[in-house]
Amino acid sequence: MFSFLARLRVAAFTLSSLVISSHALEGSLFTSSVTYCSTPETLLIQQFDVEYFAANQSVSFNISAESVDSNVNVSASLLVNVFGIEPLNITIDLCGILNGALCPLPEYNFTGSDSISLPDSFASNIPSIVFKVPDLEGYAQLTLTEVSTGDVKACVQATLSNGLSTHQLAVEWATGGLTIFTFLVALWQSYSPTTILPYRLMDLIYLFQNVAVSALFNLNYPVTYISFALNFAWSLSLFSSGDDSMQGAINNMRALTGGGLANSSSNSAVAFVNRKLSPFNSDSASSSSSISGLSSLTRRTVDSLVSNNLQQRDVAVVTSESDNVLSAGIPIYVSTINIATANAFMTVFLCTLILIAITLSVFSIGWVSLFTMERFRLGHESRRSQLRNAYPSWVRAWILRLSLIMFTPLVVFAFYQWTLNDSWLSVLFSVIAFLGIMIAVCYPCVVVIRTVRRSEPSVLYTDPFLLKTYGPLHAQYLPRRYHFFLPLVIVAFFKAIIVSFISSSGMAQIILFLILEIALVLRVLLLRPHKTRGADIFSSFLAIVRVVCTGLMIAFIQSIGVKPIPRYAIGLVLAVIYSITILVVFFNIALHIQRLFKRREASRSSSRSSSLHGSSNTMLEKDAVSSSTSDSDPYGRPRNPTPERNVPLDPEINQPYNPSSPTTTTTDYASTRQRDSESTNFGSVLPRRWSFTPLHTPTDSSALDHTPPFGSTLSRTSEEPLEKVSHSHD
Ligand SMILES: *[C@@H]1O[C@H](CO)[C@@H](O)[C@H](O)[C@H]1NC(C)=O
Ligand SMILES: *[C@@H]1O[C@H](CO)[C@@H](O)[C@H](O)[C@H]1NC(C)=O
Ligand SMILES: *[C@@H]1O[C@H](CO)[C@@H](O)[C@H](O)[C@H]1NC(C)=O
Ligand SMILES: *[C@@H]1O[C@H](CO)[C@@H](O)[C@H](O)[C@H]1NC(C)=O
Ligand SMILES: *[C@@H]1O[C@H](CO)[C@@H](O)[C@H](O)[C@H]1NC(C)=O
Ligand SMILES: *[C@@H]1O[C@H](CO)[C@@H](O)[C@H](O)[C@H]1NC(C)=O
Repeated sequence: MFSFLARLRVAAFTLSSLVISSHALEGSLFTSSVTYCSTPETLLIQQFDVEYFAANQSVSFNISAESVDSNVNVSASLLVNVFGIEPLNITIDLCGILNGALCPLPEYNFTGSDSISLPDSFASNIPSIVFKVPDLEGYAQLTLTEVSTGDVKACVQATLSNGLSTHQLAVEWATGGLTIFTFLVALWQSYSPTTILPYRLMDLIYLFQNVAVSALFNLNYPVTYISFALNFAWSLSLFSSGDDSMQGAINNMRALTGGGLANSSSNSAVAFVNRKLSPFNSDSASSSSSISGLSSLTRRTVDSLVSNNLQQRDVAVVTSESDNVLSAGIPIYVSTINIATANAFMTVFLCTLILIAITLSVFSIGWVSLFTMERFRLGHESRRSQLRNAYPSWVRAWILRLSLIMFTPLVVFAFYQWTLNDSWLSVLFSVIAFLGIMIAVCYPCVVVIRTVRRSEPSVLYTDPFLLKTYGPLHAQYLPRRYHFFLPLVIVAFFKAIIVSFISSSGMAQIILFLILEIALVLRVLLLRPHKTRGADIFSSFLAIVRVVCTGLMIAFIQSIGVKPIPRYAIGLVLAVIYSITILVVFFNIALHIQRLFKRREASRSSSRSSSLHGSSNTMLEKDAVSSSTSDSDPYGRPRNPTPERNVPLDPEINQPYNPSSPTTTTTDYASTRQRDSESTNFGSVLPRRWSFTPLHTPTDSSALDHTPPFGSTLSRTSEEPLEKVSHSHD
């Protein structure tokens, strides 16, 4: 296990190099989507695949198109737009070339594919950078204009790509896999409410969700930032793979319940992006205005022609007036992974149901194992009763954690569903999901607040039932800062409102978001709520990163009109900042896990021969050595003497960070005991190493805990001198 960190470093390096994706595969440029930019009249296209290879300077094409109008004389103009720059804008009068062979335009069916070499002069005009930047923003537009009248007879747009993107399946799998790994270790560790890993797991998932949510505003994001943020779409439980069965089922359900909005499709969504946004970056009005004079008769025949010919492959008409354009924010984000805008909530909802089913089955396996142990009297009697007593709280704590994780996705997309005028069943489900998640998150918050109202914060940390059940909310904070979880929940709620309901103004969204983030960072910096300085630094770091990144996104506000290349650069900078932050969190988690395994090995080798006292001494020394590089630095704030079980006291309430003068405060213990009828194990003093995990949970593995969750005062208070010994090691 000592090589674990090294392995993780290698994985992290691979991850970062994938994210930045600076390695060019092979230089090629191809059309990634084709659309009409005006209603097609002259030129109908079924297929338009063109690819330029830099290696052999050749163009391969596979085109199927036909010209259907007779007797029109047109001029063709070709426009190429890359990052808002137009390196090519030429207009050719087709009557002037090829001895008038194209004049008038012949009726012709063209279907063919070939690869032709281009002259060197052409290749030297293409800067090699276009083959290397991920998420190239560019498109080519061919317009045929009738010479005599100036009418647009055909307009076709094709987006260009070089195949590189910051959206990488490998990154999704790596981050998802590491999250699941962290989750499993946290699950194993979480019998103590104060172990650090579950909190780091939440931090990690919040970070992923934060990146994903930051791509949901009504902003003109560079494509590369949306692609980067799509790596974390899974953290919002947006799972999709092309035309999978779930999207088909949701399409059907919506169609049957009055949903009129577009269905999910497996086609590329980039074709439908609003032309004012990246990757089109075209602020010139679409040339479709000149076709408005078409008689309805012509239009109908054209439409029927189009629908006949385009059955094999959808080439859509996307103009600034058509209603199929995707606006910035949630529509572009979810459509890029082939989830229709109107399907987004149902996707989250179905994934939540699947998550609930998995959770229930895991918990029932736990129940069955407990029952089996009980039935066949496996294991020691005292251990069985400990497990039996601890299990309900453990289950409730994990339900609370999962609710906190699902809070953002469910609330954001439920709110968003309410802004759409679609299937009533989706709306019904979204209301149910909203109420369910609000109850699941708010009830524990209310219980915690009410408990403190009736007695005082220290009860939360001394009552084992409250600590184990509601610990995910408050246990990582100092007792006098127990309420620190509240702003996080409230801010998550307001963020959902901002994302979903204020989607008409990107500027308002980003300013409100910035205000919320600044408020959060000030709270962390001023109140310093965590039990160790390291944890405060860690959470301040995360909060500052969020403020900086939200601030940088001001450049994406459409009305500010930052040019595409600076926006692209800022998008890459944001992606790098977030990647580094994710690596920092991973390293932090890795350190904690590594320490866990080290400690386990140490305890294995020493526990049989030495006494409990001695082994915990070794562990503390190891802790002191390894923690000097991590956030949970025990030197920052010395641990306080632990409150006595039967005389609950919390020295931190009045005397923070001062271990030498603890003040005793008795609490109204009996009232808590009466209220919480479920705290069956309340009065029993559990042995220190009670957990069935072989680790030294609950207390030692946690760098943030001060209070032992389950009594055992004698051994804890005797740790104070031990820690001083370990301090002198440094
Ligand atoms: C051209 O496209 C068609 C339809 O997608 C396909 O069947 C055909 O194999 C392609 N030709 C080449 C040379 O790639
Ligand atoms: C198109 O141009 C050709 C040659 O210049 C001319 O003979 C023909 O009349 C033109 N047709 C139309 C519809 O203008
Ligand atoms: C391309 O150039 C023509 C003049 O040559 C101009 O009228 C047109 O607006 C240009 N297109 C764009 C998109 O700028
Ligand atoms: C082109 O093909 C279509 C069927 O795909 C056919 O109806 C039409 O007559 C053809 N046109 C020419 C000029 O061959
Ligand atoms: C150029 O290379 C590509 C792939 O590397 C190949 O498909 C294409 O046929 C080549 N073209 C020519 C003209 O050799
Ligand atoms: C969506 O798909 C369903 C069938 O899956 C279909 O009945 C419905 O008409 C489609 N809706 C739209 C807007 O295309």
